[in-house]
Amino acid sequence: MSVHVTRSLVPPLDDFLERLKPIWEEARFTNDGPQVRELEQLVARELESPHGIAVANGTLALQLASAALDLEGEVITTPLSFVATASSLVWMGLTPVFADVHPTTWTLDPERCAEKITTRTRAILATHVYGFPCDVDSLAALAREKNLKLIFDASHTFGCSYRGRPLASYGDVATLSLHATKILHSAEGGFVCTADPDTAHRVRVQRNFGFDGLESFAVPGINAKLSELHAALALCILPYVEAAIVKRRERFEAYLEALHAVADRVELPRIPDDLEYNYSYFPLLFENEEAVHRAWLALVAMDVYPRRYFDPPLNSLPYMGRDRAPVAEALCPRLLCLPLHDGLPLDDVERIAAALVESLA
Ligand SMILES: Cc1ncc(COP(=O)(O)O)c(C=O)c1O
Repeated sequence: MSVHVTRSLVPPLDDFLERLKPIWEEARFTNDGPQVRELEQLVARELESPHGIAVANGTLALQLASAALDLEGEVITTPLSFVATASSLVWMGLTPVFADVHPTTWTLDPERCAEKITTRTRAILATHVYGFPCDVDSLAALAREKNLKLIFDASHTFGCSYRGRPLASYGDVATLSLHATKILHSAEGGFVCTADPDTAHRVRVQRNFGFDGLESFAVPGINAKLSELHAALALCILPYVEAAIVKRRERFEAYLEALHAVADRVELPRIPDDLEYNYSYFPLLFENEEAVHRAWLALVAMDVYPRRYFDPPLNSLPYMGRDRAPVAEALCPRLLCLPLHDGLPLDDVERIAAALVESLA
C-alpha cells in the first residue's frame, strides 16, 4: 500500500453521526451555529487564547488577520513556509518583503528582519515552521520598538507548547490551519487566535461579509465561515489528538534511531529546547539537492511519497519581488519530510529508514 507523508486522523464514524443528529434536527448547517461555537471555545481554551475564531481555512485565517489589523504597505515575512503564508499577503494587496531565516532554527531571523524595516513596513508575519518556534522574544521586541504588528502563522502548531505556553498564544494574532493534513483538522478549516477583543471582533465581522449586527455593514468582509459539518468533524477528532501525538512521537523516535548511523551525512531533526513538540513533521536536511533526489527516487520506487516541504523558497516565486534570502535558498532544496502519522506501521519506518541509509551510501 502507498505510504504518504501523512494520513488524516479519522474519528469513529459513529461519533460523527452522533454529532450530525442535532444538525439534521435543527436544519442548521452554518452561520455561527452551536458546533462552531463549541469548537471555538474548546480550541481557544486549549491554545490559551482569550479569543478564538473558526474560519473556512488557514489561508483565509491569514487574510483575515491582515484585514483585521488594517494592514497596508509592506509586511516582512519568511521565505521558508507554505506558499499561503506569502501569497495571502499578495492576495490582500500587501507587499511581502522577504527577510532570511536563521540557519539553525529555519525560522525568520530577527536580525535580517530588522534590516528590512522601512517607513512602509506595517507588520511581521513569521511561521513556526514544522511546529518549531520562531525567536518569539526578539521578534516581539522588534515589533514593539518599531510599532509593527506581529502575526504568527501557527498552522503547524496545534499540540505544541513553548516554555509552558501553547505556541499559538504568542503574537498579536496567530493563525492555524485545520486542513486534513494537520493533526487537528476539520477537512478544511482554519483558526484565528488573539488576545485583543477589538481584533477578534473585526475578524468575526469580516469573516461574515462585514455584517456587524443584522443590518450594519461597517467594513468590507468575505465569506470565511466554517460550516457546522466541518466543526462537527473537528470536535470528533479533538479527543484523539493527544493519543495521536504519543504515537507520532514513537515513530519520530524510531526514525531517529534508525537514521542515527547516517547522522554525519544528513541532518536529523532536533527538537528545540523548551518545546513540547506535536511531532507533526520529520524534516531531513540533506547535504545537497542531488542527495534529496536520490532519496526521493529510492522511496518512490517503494511506493513511498515523502514531500519536499518547503521548496521552492517563497521569495523565488515569479509573482514576488526580488528579495534575496541566501540561507533559505540554500536550505529549501535540501529539505525532505518523511512520512509521519499515528497509524504509520513501525515496519514502514524501518523500511523507509533502510532505503534512505542505502541511498546515502
Ligand atoms: C504554514 C502554512 N500556512 C498556511 C497554510 C494554509 O492553510 P489551509 O490549507 O488551511 O488554507 C498551510 C497549509 O496547509 C501551511 O502549512
